[in-house]
Amino acid sequence: MSDRPGTDRRIQIAPSVLPADFSRLGQEVAALEDAGVDRIQWDVMDGRFVPNLTFGPDVINACRPHASVLFEAHLMVEEPDELASRYVDAGCELLIVHAEATRHLHRTLGHVRELGAQVGVALNPATPVAAIENVLDLVDLVLVMTVNPGFGGQAYLASMEPKVAAVRRLVLDGGLDVDIEVDGGIGPETIQGAAAAGANVLVAGSALYRDPQGLAHAVAELRALAEAS
Ligand code: DX5
Repeated sequence: MSDRPGTDRRIQIAPSVLPADFSRLGQEVAALEDAGVDRIQWDVMDGRFVPNLTFGPDVINACRPHASVLFEAHLMVEEPDELASRYVDAGCELLIVHAEATRHLHRTLGHVRELGAQVGVALNPATPVAAIENVLDLVDLVLVMTVNPGFGGQAYLASMEPKVAAVRRLVLDGGLDVDIEVDGGIGPETIQGAAAAGANVLVAGSALYRDPQGLAHAVAELRALAEAS
């Protein structure tokens, strides 16, 4: 048993689709599955919660038949309650809502569960762990953002590692079955710090697509580095 907090949880590599070729998304998600990813993350952005605009449910629905891995929707949107059912119907098995995006987080998380989906809660870099202490029993996953959301290709915030460790400690102390996910700036140089802090689901976009040896090599390298942390 390594000394990584929460070492009983399987390492999962989750690509962000943001850097993919949007003109051929069906083939892109198929290629990600072929490359050995464990799930696919759709960065859903509404141009209000974050200054970017990305995937509607119909885009994800069109891609659903091209891959069998779990689709998770990272809802970087204001008022996620209004959109949640659309993304479940589009084929997302897990929805991640931001603690900062809804006035009644406990009710929103319960609403997502009632739709039949798994549910995660995300924390922006400035948001303390205290914001989710009272809803950990409702979630399957906590996403600790390691960049400010909105765009791929940003620098990893190592200052978030103590926050990852704090969430993992809460999960372990509570005996909860909760994955810890990180997202933003994850690559060969940064993944071991995040995994050593306790993250077991690692989202990467740029690092996968910039590997000259291709997606499968990038996925395998990140997985090996995380598992060795
Ligand atoms: C930010 C996005 C990015 C993306 C991954 O809102 O959520 O973090 O998924 O970006 P990279 O891996 O390119 O930093």
